[in-house]
Amino acid sequence: MSDRYMQIMQSPMGQKVIASLGLPVPPSLERAEGPWQNEALKGTSVLFGAAAGGKLLETCLKTLNSSGADVFVPTKSAGLEDIKSAASSNTIPVRATTEEDESKFSALVFDASGISTAQGMSEIHAFFNPNVRRLKKNGRIIILGRTPESAANPEDAAAMRGLEGVVRSLAKELGKKGITAQHFYVEPGAETRAEAAIRFFLSRSSAFITGQALRITGLATGEANGPWEAALKGKVVVVTGAARGIGAGIAEVMAREGAKVICLDRPGEEESLQKVADAIQGEVLAVDITDPKAGDTIADYCKKQHKGLDVIVHNAGVTRDKTMARMSAEWWNMVLEINLAAIARVNEKLLADKIINKGGRIVCVSSISGIAGNMGQTNYSASKAGLIGYVAALSQQVAEQGITVNAVAPGFIETQMTAAIPFAIREVGRRFNSLSQGGLPVDVAEAITFFSSPGAVGATGNVLRVCGQNMLGA
Ligand SMILES: NC(=O)c1ccc[n+]([C@@H]2O[C@H](COP(=O)([O-])OP(=O)(O)OC[C@H]3O[C@@H](n4cnc5c(N)ncnc54)[C@H](O)[C@@H]3O)[C@@H](O)[C@H]2O)c1
Repeated sequence: MSDRYMQIMQSPMGQKVIASLGLPVPPSLERAEGPWQNEALKGTSVLFGAAAGGKLLETCLKTLNSSGADVFVPTKSAGLEDIKSAASSNTIPVRATTEEDESKFSALVFDASGISTAQGMSEIHAFFNPNVRRLKKNGRIIILGRTPESAANPEDAAAMRGLEGVVRSLAKELGKKGITAQHFYVEPGAETRAEAAIRFFLSRSSAFITGQALRITGLATGEANGPWEAALKGKVVVVTGAARGIGAGIAEVMAREGAKVICLDRPGEEESLQKVADAIQGEVLAVDITDPKAGDTIADYCKKQHKGLDVIVHNAGVTRDKTMARMSAEWWNMVLEINLAAIARVNEKLLADKIINKGGRIVCVSSISGIAGNMGQTNYSASKAGLIGYVAALSQQVAEQGITVNAVAPGFIETQMTAAIPFAIREVGRRFNSLSQGGLPVDVAEAITFFSSPGAVGATGNVLRVCGQNMLGA
């Protein structure tokens, strides 16, 4: 589905008209043309700051350095001495910069893990106030802090949670420039596991994700060592609902990262499914996921053809919208069956038969409707909110096997599903976010690929919104 408003925006005349009418001016988002692991930060300048006593200095510095960024440190920073000492013990070059310097940055990264009081949050102001204007268009902000559960006392927990508020507001302030802002809650002991997330969220692959909080923990067993290039090389991946829309985008991006993708969709969709698979040297599996035997079929196929499975992406989903008073039991049950019950059944079979390899990844596609609710979508919201609860519980159960379980919650994404929405509602869905535009299937696909990568072992039990910080559900 094309976005006419965005097309008009491409011409100087269109921009003038839109600006003179006081309408939102959507920024032109820069998206990645290749893997985020490679292109993340090469040749860019990143400004890095920290509060005194930061615990993530080493991880941040090593990640920035190995991604090819030039690291700058503001001369006025409470954590300056800590940064210098971490940089010199790891022989990482950092350059000092003053507020008077004219230079601009591609990203601002701040290690806030040393902050434990409301007063301590003045460090955030001291870093961002003079430097936020030095961020380039399409720039990135990351603030890293600790998980509130690890706080020593309520005041400490308040400061840790307060950082999320900063990020959500920064994302709203800066979205019009295509700038994104994220917060990471990093559990004590899981510091080195933040690398994959830093790389992904500083890259152009995360262009439509902003104002989000991600948890990095030590829950799932395994090493977080990458690889950082062709992250899914040698991995066998099943993507459900791959015949079109977001599913086709997921299949494409995962194949780009080196995966062998089994494209699954319901019988009757073989023609388009085959096209998607052919374009990526993938395989086709026609299965209705609501078939009680669907789990067996997938298990048998993966066992015979590949001796197992590394990643399953539960993307297939449907909407059948009506207000509660008009909703038929048939539509209610159909949506819950496809979007939730079938997923749980398939996973149960794959896990019971140990088809999902050690270190495997399960990613479910939820929706912001599952977070905020939506008019006429009680059935859909029930299924998508249900997925969020499911992911939280399952991630605990399978962590011992090094399997992570996460959900992505897309906002408005340009697909056949959203093309069917009436025009006025569609425009609201598109514009009411910090980036004033709809996302593309590739945006969801990139987020799923991040969760699926071996280096992202620290990210489990998360629900990541890919929605440009949609106003729905804040
Ligand atoms: N498009 C959006 O803006 C948006 C927003 C939030 C969430 N989502 C979610 O993203 C996912 C993909 O959405 P989309 O917009 O690409 O939808 P789509 O309708 O374009 O594609 C869905 C695919 O799932 C397949 N499918 C449906 N039922 C199936 C079944 N029983 N067995 C196997 N395959 C089945 C369909 O054949 C289709 O190819 C869905 O889970 C949807 O709820 C989409």
